[in-house]
Amino acid sequence: MTQHSDAQASWSLSCSSCATPSALAGASVCGSCGQPLFARYATGTGRVLADRWDSWRYSALMPLLAGESPVTLGEGLTPMIEAPSLAKLVGVRRLWIKDEGQNPTASFKARGMSAAMTRARGAGVPGVVVPTAGNAGAALAAYGAAAGLPVQVFAPRTTPRPILDTIEAMGATLVRIDGHIGDAGKLAIAFAAEHGYFNVSTLREPYRVEGMKTMGFEMAEQLGWRLPDAVVYPTGGGEGTIGIWKAIEEMVASGWLPAGTVQPRYVVAQADGCAPIARAFAAGAEKAEPWVDPVTYAAGLRVPSPLGDRLLLRVLRETNGIAASASEQAIADWTKRLATATGIDAAPEGGCALSVLCDAVTKGTISNDAEVVVFNTGSGASYRA
Ligand SMILES: Cc1ncc(COP(=O)(O)O)c(C=O)c1O
Repeated sequence: MTQHSDAQASWSLSCSSCATPSALAGASVCGSCGQPLFARYATGTGRVLADRWDSWRYSALMPLLAGESPVTLGEGLTPMIEAPSLAKLVGVRRLWIKDEGQNPTASFKARGMSAAMTRARGAGVPGVVVPTAGNAGAALAAYGAAAGLPVQVFAPRTTPRPILDTIEAMGATLVRIDGHIGDAGKLAIAFAAEHGYFNVSTLREPYRVEGMKTMGFEMAEQLGWRLPDAVVYPTGGGEGTIGIWKAIEEMVASGWLPAGTVQPRYVVAQADGCAPIARAFAAGAEKAEPWVDPVTYAAGLRVPSPLGDRLLLRVLRETNGIAASASEQAIADWTKRLATATGIDAAPEGGCALSVLCDAVTKGTISNDAEVVVFNTGSGASYRA
């Protein structure tokens, strides 16, 4: 197993499921079992923060090599805004909205692409390709441009227009497809094989999820190095939810948070029209079956067959979590409530998260005494044609 280290970090790759080590060169999924690879870091190092104001503030637990400068556009350090009126409406003690719409290209996907493009540039790949429900393509277009790498994007024709426009404005080659992200995924695999491009599909490479961890680091720092009782995340492919959970595991193992700190309960929010994780969770299953005919206005949640299904279901089991879905009408109503009660330009995915939280509180599965962080993962502006 190759180790890389500098004054702050040392890391290697191994399987998230069977722990088989992997070489860094050409890393994709586990060669033994096909599950996602995880970067692993030295434990017990204590809290080390870089003196900089982007997602690489947390580089001690990020996949950076000695002397390397990351590919960054100033992603991260997004506001976490307390919303007492929403807390009252939903019925919890305290509620914060972490507004990821304020990232470059207006979604949390910027964080993952900053990490992935740092490693892709380091590996000297000739170009990068991604299948996307929308925002990941826009983020890759921007970070590919920043890294000086050619970018190929496959996205559903139904992706909101402003997102498709952003992909092209950043100079990426965009192929609009009939179908969903799963169909785009097959095209991306074929394109990567034919052109030697690096496939940056969710959890098919190990680094996007590393960038997503920075949401977990920030959440803890913004709360004064403590955690909420529950984290509500609108979930499609799962890299956001898994990233936050992984960050907290590592913060405890490295002494950034006190030993024995308990993970928050994770609430995976999906849309009624595409809810493979919520369905598998309700059935007590360890993996999800593909969702046939996925349909939802919340484009980021239209992921019928996430590669991270086993990991997500494990996170839910280990944290006494919940997975549930919201109707299209509830998504629209709660998106509007989120925006009008706070001034945050909410994406429908954020509205979905709030709706699922409200249902969980009404059913008594989340207590009225809870402190909760809800992620608004994108911007409403991305949906206004
Ligand atoms: C705005 C938005 N929210 C949520 C998601 C789902 O995130 P993940 O794939 O990390 O579960 C996406 C994915 O594209 C998205 O664009």
